[in-house]
Amino acid sequence: MQQARKWIREATSVSVLTGAGISAESGIPTFRGAAGLWKQFRAEQLATPEAFAHDPRLVWEWYDWRRSLIAGAQPNPGHLALVALERAKPRFTLATQNVDGLHERAGSENILKLHGDIWTLRCTICGLERCDRRTPLPELPPLCECGGLLRPGVVWFGESLPNGAWERAERAARECAVFLVIGTSAVVYPAASLVPLAKTSGAKVIECNTEETPFSADLHKSFREPAAELLPQLIA
Ligand code: OAD
Repeated sequence: MQQARKWIREATSVSVLTGAGISAESGIPTFRGAAGLWKQFRAEQLATPEAFAHDPRLVWEWYDWRRSLIAGAQPNPGHLALVALERAKPRFTLATQNVDGLHERAGSENILKLHGDIWTLRCTICGLERCDRRTPLPELPPLCECGGLLRPGVVWFGESLPNGAWERAERAARECAVFLVIGTSAVVYPAASLVPLAKTSGAKVIECNTEETPFSADLHKSFREPAAELLPQLIA
């Protein structure tokens, strides 16, 4: 712990990758592990263009359920510790796979949303995007004024990541002195590739996860503690 705190304290540039685990203590279920199923479905069965084409209502029911949970959730001390870190560092980048918006609500500013935003709806016909925070949505699946089906503004399996955000995340991983990887199973690519990229580029890589990940054994430090407890100590 002392060593990791020293690396963070002394670094002028820090990059962070977060996943669903950082929001677990805000009451939002992660995608994998025991809490990960919705009805009998796994994320990979719902978060795809094919699933949406086959049964848009089912996919929307899942997102509508997640939106309701998120609307009732608050950022936790893990999110807040990252806000303090951002304010303390001249160069700081937060790349997140989360679509819940809790980093923004906590006060983080420089956020790269690699997987989009659950509050954005995008028309599958005219492409128009809008922010809609209603929970539950009045009709499922929701429709655009043009009559087209609206989809969640998130990245699904098999889809590309938002261009600018991904390039900036890669650059931040390559250029930082310390890379924090927090609450992600690190099995979904390309986001997971930021971890070895940071390591081979020379960053000290510190992981915070309640369970081991495929990278844990290769990192400079890997802590097995909940993010809401560890991050305030690590970043204090
Ligand atoms: P996962 O659900 O795959 O992984 C969550 C990770 O958080 C696991 O490794 C847990 O061990 C860890 N964890 C749980 N509680 C924690 C806590 N309190 N503190 C720290 N760690 C904790 O979520 P992601 O890695 O974010 O993509 O998943 C990546 C992507 O897969 C998601 O963005 C989503 C999903 O399908 C799409 O929908 C495209």
